[in-house]
Amino acid sequence: MTFWASIRGKILLAFFLIVGVSFAVAATNLTTLVSRFLFDQRSREDRITAEKLAVSAASPFESVSAEELNRMLEENAASLDGRIMLLDADGKVQYDSFQRMCGVRLEVPEVLQVLVGGEREAYGTHTPGRAVVERMSGEAGADYVAYSVCEITGAAGRLGAVLYVSRVQGMMDSLRDVTWQLVGVFLAITAGALALAMVLSQVLTKPITTLSTTMRKMGRGDLSVRVPVSGSGELRELAENYNTMAAQLESLDKTRDQFVSNASHELKTPLTTMKIMLESLIYQPDMPEDLRQEFMGDMNHEIDRLTGIVTDLLTLTRMDSGEAQAKREPVDMSELTRETARMLQPAADQHGHTLTAEAEEGIILTGDQGRLSQILYNLTDNAIKYTPDGGRVSLTLRREGKDIVWRVRDNGVGIPREDQDHIFERFYRVDKARGRDTGGTGLGLSIVHQLVTLEGGTIAVNSEPGKGSEFIARFPEGGPSK
Ligand SMILES: Nc1ncnc2c1ncn2[C@@H]1O[C@H](COP(=O)(O)OP(=O)(O)OP(=O)(O)O)[C@@H](O)[C@H]1O
Ligand SMILES: [Mg+2]
Repeated sequence: MTFWASIRGKILLAFFLIVGVSFAVAATNLTTLVSRFLFDQRSREDRITAEKLAVSAASPFESVSAEELNRMLEENAASLDGRIMLLDADGKVQYDSFQRMCGVRLEVPEVLQVLVGGEREAYGTHTPGRAVVERMSGEAGADYVAYSVCEITGAAGRLGAVLYVSRVQGMMDSLRDVTWQLVGVFLAITAGALALAMVLSQVLTKPITTLSTTMRKMGRGDLSVRVPVSGSGELRELAENYNTMAAQLESLDKTRDQFVSNASHELKTPLTTMKIMLESLIYQPDMPEDLRQEFMGDMNHEIDRLTGIVTDLLTLTRMDSGEAQAKREPVDMSELTRETARMLQPAADQHGHTLTAEAEEGIILTGDQGRLSQILYNLTDNAIKYTPDGGRVSLTLRREGKDIVWRVRDNGVGIPREDQDHIFERFYRVDKARGRDTGGTGLGLSIVHQLVTLEGGTIAVNSEPGKGSEFIARFPEGGPSK
């Protein structure tokens, strides 16, 4: 990443552009304003001087009173810091306060403007070279000279013009000083702004750099890294959100590892049992026939168990990946309840349980028949399994307000309070040893939980050890909102 592509570079550039450009504009405007002000003031003064001279020179000029003219010019020249010349209508110098150019025809542009162009007055500054400036204004080492020309009019019309040569080098010098001062101030401010932008961008981008480094570490597989949360505003929020995400990923990763190890363990047990039995069959060819039959029967049972576990695992992973397509169809819940009871009647009979199904008529729910059926099947299967022989298991289906509710009740072993929070977790069994005997894997309720959630419902349990349990699955009548 090049410097200018980074946020730091962009902040710096933006800062520089904003501060630099605005100050450049401001400085230029200010210089123009100041110079125009100084210049205007000076030119106005010079023009007024020329005009006054023209007025005072008019009558002596007309009456060709050389003495009076000379006196007037001497008086004025003494008080003015410049040179006065009187020109006749042809532009020839008649009087000169420096007494040097009498009789010379002057070709100064302002003179031509007045005498040839017919303007009343004219003003201009020039840089004709130091020699000329010195010859014209008498100022040595100066680059600038200003000419103010004003026509002299008498009764008969235009008589000639006054040329007032003023020294403007001082003004030009101060103008240049002001300009340089402004440029200096402008450069200092821009440099200050740049330094500030450097510090600011460093402070601003630090959290982002840290986040980036952390993410890289996480990308390499270390899910335990977190970014320090500091400061306020969006960057703080970003850090917090990132940490939440990282925590979730980490816990997801742990859950997955645990799931895989649990699943392998569950699959390994029946496989080990089967291997032992199979080896006995192989290495004891003279095994009694009834024992051989028993081993075969047990192996068949283990295979059923394995198949069951694998089916459950597939169901879970399919739900996790969101692969399973939900059906949205009207399901006759009353019929489904009775059918499940019928299906599990043989299992209940085996344990001498009384299994009853009590369903309100005509309850239709929009949902997935297969999933709903599995929910009730798993709950009833548990009720039968975790109730000592000769117990009572009842299924009820009822409308409660806007909900459709299944209750699966038994008078079995019950679930201790501390276990109730965990029974919906994968592979969780209250009594590990008991689970193995009854063939439980601890997946049934986690499947129920996930299915109920997918159908937009909730699942709850009420249970007291020794007295029995009640599982309540509640579905919104309209089906899952989507
Ligand atoms: N009706 C019940 N009465 C008492 N305990 C129950 C009941 N239902 C579930 N449990 C307890 O909750 C645990 C988890 O039940 P779950 O259905 O998830 O697993 P399982 O029945 O052991 O195995 P699986 O259903 O996967 O074959 C059970 O092992 C059992 O200890
Ligand atoms: Mg179960």
